[in-house]
Amino acid sequence: MANSKVKTFGILTSGGDAPGLNAAIRAVCRTAKIRYGMNAIGIRNGYRGLVQGDMFPVKSDDLVGLLTVGGTILGTARDKPFKNPVPDPDTGFLPVDAIKANYQKWGLDALVCIGGNGTNTTASLLAKEGLNVIGLPKTIDNDIEKTDMTFGFHTALDVATDAIDRIHTTAHSHSRLMVIEVMGHKAGWLGLYAGIAGGGDVVLIPEIPYDINAVAQKVMERRDAGKNFSIIVVAEGARSKDEALLSKKEFKKARAAMPYSIAYRVAHELEAATRLESRVTVLGYLQRGGTPSPYDRILATHFGTAAAHFLAEGDFGKLVALQNGKIVGVPLEDVAGRVKNVPLDHPMIQCARELGTGLGD
Ligand code: F6P
Repeated sequence: MANSKVKTFGILTSGGDAPGLNAAIRAVCRTAKIRYGMNAIGIRNGYRGLVQGDMFPVKSDDLVGLLTVGGTILGTARDKPFKNPVPDPDTGFLPVDAIKANYQKWGLDALVCIGGNGTNTTASLLAKEGLNVIGLPKTIDNDIEKTDMTFGFHTALDVATDAIDRIHTTAHSHSRLMVIEVMGHKAGWLGLYAGIAGGGDVVLIPEIPYDINAVAQKVMERRDAGKNFSIIVVAEGARSKDEALLSKKEFKKARAAMPYSIAYRVAHELEAATRLESRVTVLGYLQRGGTPSPYDRILATHFGTAAAHFLAEGDFGKLVALQNGKIVGVPLEDVAGRVKNVPLDHPMIQCARELGTGLGD
């Protein structure tokens, strides 16, 4: 058995689920046990379980068959213990005090926090509170700074691409405008990649505010060239040029007041501008559920085994990240509170333009 600075660690998954979470849990726990003889304590429902002390010792049997299973056996929640903290009515403890008490009570030497931006921001704050923390980057949005890729993204991309392919044939049959909304939160990675992989005629992403007249013009150019349908891929965070002028707060308020998601507005405005019939498909949670793709299984496994080595070496306060094909550790504080958007000079934006794909600008 190799030496390890950690004997017992807690592991949690937090934020929206993503394909590959179970593969990551399996990889961390198995490597930690087999290589270093560590004990894993599973924490239920993300930071909520850490605050409530809802934990259990992970046994080898708990990990059997996990690699291919979607979701997370640990459960997840979007609790943010540092945001507007409220003392517990019984104990008077703030969430962070409860976390420290449970960390002690369960004999944890370290914590592995698997999640997206919110999760890793909390992980960074816990590290500042003196806990030994390691983060793992999971999200279908691929919007975590300092890592080239997050696990979950590729499975969501496969699902979205398959959906666009299917919608293509019905678009063609009915001579319609098909507006397809994909997830991605405030970033356009999923929209851009699915748009390119699915051959979208127009792709709208948050990083490039759109003008509906430019989108309508693209559709009409296709029509004039004898193409009877158009596929418009819209990232859920896409915004118009007018909306781009709003402050963050104003934009949030305006979107909260919108009774439908962005694809419906785009379709409605396009029908008005082109007088062509449109249909909307919001892919939603289909993109997050189900079996992880081989790529995500491999990436989650790679991150997970690396996390076990980080634990053993006592290399804490780090996010396990992928940079230029290599696994590296980056300080959690360099990731906390940030969003990795698609840079405007990204090669895929260039590709889309060269293909004649409309980007709405
Ligand atoms: O961050 C992942 C994500 O799936 C986003 O793409 C989406 O905006 C959001 O989560 C949906 O969150 P919820 O699960 O809270 O509805």
